[in-house]
Amino acid sequence: MRVIDVRVREGYQVLVGSGLLPQLGGEMARVGRRGSAMLVSDDNVAPLYLKTAKESLEKAGFRVCSFVFPHGEENKNLQTYASLLNALAEEKLTKSDTVVALGGGVTGDLSGFAAATYLRGLGFVQVPTTLLAASDSSVGGKTAVDLPAGKNLAGAFYQPDLVLMDVDTLRTLPEEEYACGMAEVVKHGVLGDRRLFDQVKQGPGRFDEEAVIARNVQIKAEIVAEDEFDEGKRQLLNLGHTIGHAVEKASGLTVPHGQAVAIGMAVAARAAWRMGLSEENCAPEIEQALVNNHLPIRCPYGPEELLKAALSDKKRRGDTIHLILPRRIGECYRHGVDVSEIGAFLEAGLR
Ligand SMILES: NC(=O)c1ccc[n+]([C@@H]2O[C@H](COP(=O)([O-])OP(=O)(O)OC[C@H]3O[C@@H](n4cnc5c(N)ncnc54)[C@H](O)[C@@H]3O)[C@@H](O)[C@H]2O)c1
Ligand SMILES: [Zn+2]
Repeated sequence: MRVIDVRVREGYQVLVGSGLLPQLGGEMARVGRRGSAMLVSDDNVAPLYLKTAKESLEKAGFRVCSFVFPHGEENKNLQTYASLLNALAEEKLTKSDTVVALGGGVTGDLSGFAAATYLRGLGFVQVPTTLLAASDSSVGGKTAVDLPAGKNLAGAFYQPDLVLMDVDTLRTLPEEEYACGMAEVVKHGVLGDRRLFDQVKQGPGRFDEEAVIARNVQIKAEIVAEDEFDEGKRQLLNLGHTIGHAVEKASGLTVPHGQAVAIGMAVAARAAWRMGLSEENCAPEIEQALVNNHLPIRCPYGPEELLKAALSDKKRRGDTIHLILPRRIGECYRHGVDVSEIGAFLEAGLR
C-alpha cells in the first residue's frame, strides 16, 4: 500500500493499494470517524462492491445505511442531490457521521456536495472505483452537481477525511472507462512529470498500476496544496480541457470527457509547436501515448464549430481564452489567447 499526504489546510491521506476495500471500516476508524456511515453508490457499482464495504464498516462498529442512484452523468443533478439530502435526514445523520462515496467521479462529486452542505458539513470519505476518480476527481476537494445550464455549476470546495483506493476494483471497469482515466494520467505526466509520462506511454498492462496511480495523486495533490481554491497554479490541471470542453459541447456530450481531453491535449500540443509556443515538438510523443492508451487524437469538428463551442463556455472571463500549453513533456504553462486569434490557433492544432 502507498500513502500520499495531501497538504491542504485540513490535510488528509490517500491510500492506494490492492485488497484495501475490506479494510475501509478500520481505516475510517483510524482517522477518527465513528457513528453512522451513509454509503453512496450508483447502480453499477453497488452490486459489485457495496456488500464488502458495508461489512467492513459494520465490523469496525459503524451503523451503515446506503443510497443507490442510477448511474451516469445525467443523474449528477439537483434531483439526485435532493434525494440524497433527504436520505441523510431520514437516517438522522449528524455532523459527526460520515458520507462515503463508493464509485466514480459522478458518485464522488455528488456525495461530496451533499457532505459539504448537509448540516453545513459532515464527514466525507472517498472510495474511488474508476481510474478517473482515483487519479483525478477524488483528490482536490472539488464537489458539484450539474444544472440544466451546464456541468458542475453548483458546487463547493470540500476536502475529504480520507481517500481509499483499492486498485482491485479497476478490474471490473469497462475498457472505455479505463481509457478515459488514462487521459488524465497522461495529462499529469505531460504537465508535471516526464518519468510518469514515460511509464504510461506504452499503454495499459505495461506499467505498475499502483505506483502510477500513487504518483498521479501526488502530482495533483502538490498542485492542489499550492492552490486549494483554484486561483492560480491549479489551472495547469486544465491542460487539454479548454479545447476538450469545446469538443464535448460540440458533440452534444456524446464524446466522453476523457476522449475529449485527449483530443484537446493533442490539438494544444500541435498548435503550440506550429505557433512557436513550445520549446520542443511534443505532439508526436503525446499522440503516440494517447493512441497506445486507446484514446483519440483527431478532432471530428472544424475550427468554426469548436470556436463557437469554446466561446459559449459559461466559465469564460473576458476576451482572452487561457490555454495550458506544453513547453516540453513534464512542463506546461498558461498562455492567454485573444478571442480574435483563437481561430488561427485552432486551425493550427486541427491540421
Ligand atoms: N471533482 C473533480 O475534481 C473532478 C475532476 C474530474 C472529473 N470530475 C467529474 O467526474 C465525473 C466523471 O467520473 P467517472 O469517469 O469516474 O464517471 P462515473 O462515476 O460515471 O463512472 C463511469 C462509469 O463506470 C461505472 N463504474 C464505476 N466504477 C466501476 C467499477 N469499478 N466497475 C464497473 N463499473 C464501474 C459507473 O457506474 C459509470 O457507469 C464527471 O462528472 C466529472 O465532472 C470531477
Ligand atoms: Zn478532466
